[in-house]
Parts: sequence; C-alpha cells; structure tokens
Amino acid sequence: MERILISETPQHVGETVKLDGWVDVRRDHGKLIFIDLRDRSGKVQMVILPNHVEAHAVAQTLRSEWVVEVTGQVNTRPEKLINKEQPNGTIEIEVLTIDVLNEAETPPFDVTSDGKEIGEEHRLKYRYLDLRRERMQHNIRTRDKVITFFREYMHGADFVEIETPMLMKGTPEGSREYLVPSRLEKGKFYALPQSPQQYKQLCMVAGFERYFQIARCMRDEDLRGDRQPEFTQLDYEMSFVTEEDVLRFTEKMFIEMVQKLFPEKRLTQAPFPRLTYKESIEKYASDKPDLRQDKNDPNELAFAWIVDFPMFEKTDDGTLQAAHHPFCSVKEEDVEKFMQGVDLFNIRANSYDLVLNGYELSSGSIRIHKKAMQEQVFKLLNISEEEQKEKFGHMLEAFTFGAPPHGGFAPGIDRIVMILQNEPNIREVIAFPKTGEGRDLMTKSPSAVPSKQLAELGLRIVTEEKRGK
Ligand code: AMO
Repeated sequence: MERILISETPQHVGETVKLDGWVDVRRDHGKLIFIDLRDRSGKVQMVILPNHVEAHAVAQTLRSEWVVEVTGQVNTRPEKLINKEQPNGTIEIEVLTIDVLNEAETPPFDVTSDGKEIGEEHRLKYRYLDLRRERMQHNIRTRDKVITFFREYMHGADFVEIETPMLMKGTPEGSREYLVPSRLEKGKFYALPQSPQQYKQLCMVAGFERYFQIARCMRDEDLRGDRQPEFTQLDYEMSFVTEEDVLRFTEKMFIEMVQKLFPEKRLTQAPFPRLTYKESIEKYASDKPDLRQDKNDPNELAFAWIVDFPMFEKTDDGTLQAAHHPFCSVKEEDVEKFMQGVDLFNIRANSYDLVLNGYELSSGSIRIHKKAMQEQVFKLLNISEEEQKEKFGHMLEAFTFGAPPHGGFAPGIDRIVMILQNEPNIREVIAFPKTGEGRDLMTKSPSAVPSKQLAELGLRIVTEEKRGK
C-alpha cells in the first residue's frame, strides 16, 4: 500500500489507507486511545480501539513526536463528534496497525502551540523542533511562495537569473564586511557580498539588460529585529530604464503579489503615494513613515515611495559619505553643483526607497554609467586616485567599454515576509536565524578552529591579554 498524505484522507472514506507522520498529541481514555497524527499536509485524529489488540498495545507506548507508520480505515465521525472548524474534522482514522519508525525523547518544549510563550534562545537551540510548529511551518512555506512568485514574475518579464560570487572583493554598502582568508594567498582575504551591487551593474555592461537574483547578502552590523547578518534580497537591475520605469515595474509586481498570495490584505493606497525625502522628513520626521490608517489592522498594507534622496550625508565624525552607495547617479538639475563640488549636502540622487508600514523594504537607484561621473563621486568622497584604481578599477574600466544606462532595486525578502505574516521580527520567517549577538545557538557558531587550520591560512589569534601587553 502506498502512503497517502493526511490532507488526502477525506477522499478515502470507507477505505484502508497508510499514513506516515509524527504523534502530535496522544489522549489515553483507557479503552480508547486517541492520537492526532501530523504530517507535512496537516493533522488528523486517529482512534485505537481495544479490539485491535496489537495496535492498542503499541498505542499505549506512544509519546509526543514519535514517528509512526499507520494503516487504518477512514471513517466519517459520529454526528456529535464532527468538528467543522477543523481541517479533517469530519473524519477519523480507525487504526489497524502501528509501526514505530523512531522514538523521540520528551521534547524540550511544546511544539503544538504557537511558541510565543517559549524563550527564543531555547527555541533557537532546538530550531529543528521549533520549526515543527504550525506557525513556523506556515511562515517558511509562505516565504517559499513569495520567492516563487517573484522568481516566476521576473522570468515572465524577461529577466535572467544570474548567480554572482560569494567570495569577492568588498563592496561599499555602508556596513562592515565579513572576511574570508585565502589559503593560497596567505595574508589576503575575500569579502562576502553585502549585496551583488557591483556584479549586477557589470551584468548590465555585459549586455544582459535584465538581471535578477534571489541574493544572499552578508553584513557585519549591529543587529535589530529587522536585521540579520545574513539576509536575502530580490535583487534586480535593468538597462535603458528611467526611475519611473523601475518604480512602475516594481509597484505592479508588488500589487500582483499581494493580490495573488494575500487576498485578505488591503492596500491603503494604490498607486502607492510618492514623497520626496525632504517632504517625508518634514512631514513625518522619518524617511520610512508608517502611513497606515489603522495601525491595529493586521491586514492593512501602506506602501509608499520615498524619492530624491540626498547623494551625500555627514558621518558622525563630520566626514562625507554616500547616503546610499557611491554608484547612484545625480539628478539632472544638480549635476552642475556636483561637477563643481559645491553645496554637496543639497545634491540629490536618482535614488528611491519603497517603504511598507514603517519599514524600509528596499532601496535602489539609477546608476552612474560614465567613468568621469563615477570618478567625481569618488573624488568628492575623498578616495584617492590610487585607492579608486585599487578598489574600483574594474568598475571604472567597465564604464569605458560601452556601459548602458541602467538602474535597479533590491527588496529585502525577510522584511516583506515578516510584515505580510504579521511577525514582530525577521527571525520568525528565517529557518535558521542568528541571535541578536550573531550566534547560531543550535550549531554553536561562531566557533574556535583548530590551530592547524589557522596555520594553513597563515593566521594567528591575538588574544585581548596579549594585545594589552
Ligand atoms: P540596501 O542596503 O538598502 O540596498 O538594502 C536593500 C534592502 O535589503 C534589506 N536589508 C536587510 N534585511 C535584513 N537584514 C539586514 N541586515 C538588511 N540590510 C538590508 C532591506 C533593504 O531595504 N545594493 C543596494 C540595492 C540597490 O541599489 O539596488 C542595497 O543593497 O529590506
């Protein structure tokens, strides 16, 4: 007999079926034993009657989370036991045989609740158990649906999915990079991508015209509820487009995604309202205003565009830095000031953000595609010619070989799913997230490595104590 899924059982009333899964709950009523069985498709109630002697004896030993294979007859429940609210609430399985495929220790916590009552450290330590709960299964499966929607949408719009390197040279996205030591060239390092920014632009120079990637990004920054050291972007770039083209394309895609996957949600405003950065700061004292009419409505989605970000900003120590990244192009009206290097903090970039319910979902811009312009940004940022060549020589050179005008965007998948699932932080929509201190409590990383491995990489650890001496 072939195994069927629990969700298929209602189509088999009166038949004997085989099911595999986990013991969700066992209720022992002496003669009658009830077991809720769980598989990837849902749960079903099973009853073990005393006349099935062998199965009854096994059922008495079963505990939560044991893995079993069961054969049984699918019966309609007696009228008074029907529960129309529950999936499979009109049937139950009268068990004929039970095979224990694996036993389980008593789980460290209940996996049948929504888990909100359990300390997160505990949940993360046993994440593989935590993920068994319905809420987490739903979050991770919804994430998959969102990614699948975007991937299909992109392919439907003639984008090509291109994987860009994980081992690369640094990219200036404003935060600290994770470094990977090179064994073959001791003393040298790769950086992990903070985003595929440079590669996607180089894909435009390469003539692909429409690139996308479900891109893993790594940033060594202070963590918050909406930040992880590893996260995922829907990264895309298009050639021969204006800012208007990118905004329209993105807006249409997001509206279709919500309509298709989350029909219960309501958009506060469509087309999405547009505010300049200046207007947003003046009106809401924020560049990611929460424009919901009812902040208690879990189904309200208030998207908004924030446009015309400044090109430069002041760092805490008073120096100039790129507000987004140094590859953004400058607004036509401000090019003269930009080339003269005056009134720098009032120069606006062709850059835009998409915000949703008070979160920044995405940033993007129309890029620079001419060498002289790019050099001018670096010059204003006080990056010497030598350093420019060393760090960005490949970009500057690429722009001399027929780089087309281009621009793009990179919505953060984790934040999108978090908001759509009404979760308070992105860890709830990431299968194996890190803690606020950047630790994986399950595998216990980061971890020390054997000295032999360090020696191979030409590395030596300097402890605080030694450093102090
Ligand atoms: P930016 O740095 O603004 O732009 O990132 C784009 C989006 O990525 C998400 N994001 C994060 N999500 C979780 N944890 C983090 N630590 C984290 N950091 C960023 C956010 C953010 O809006 N290359 C440019 C995009 C471009 O110009 O096309 C970039 O990475 O949702």
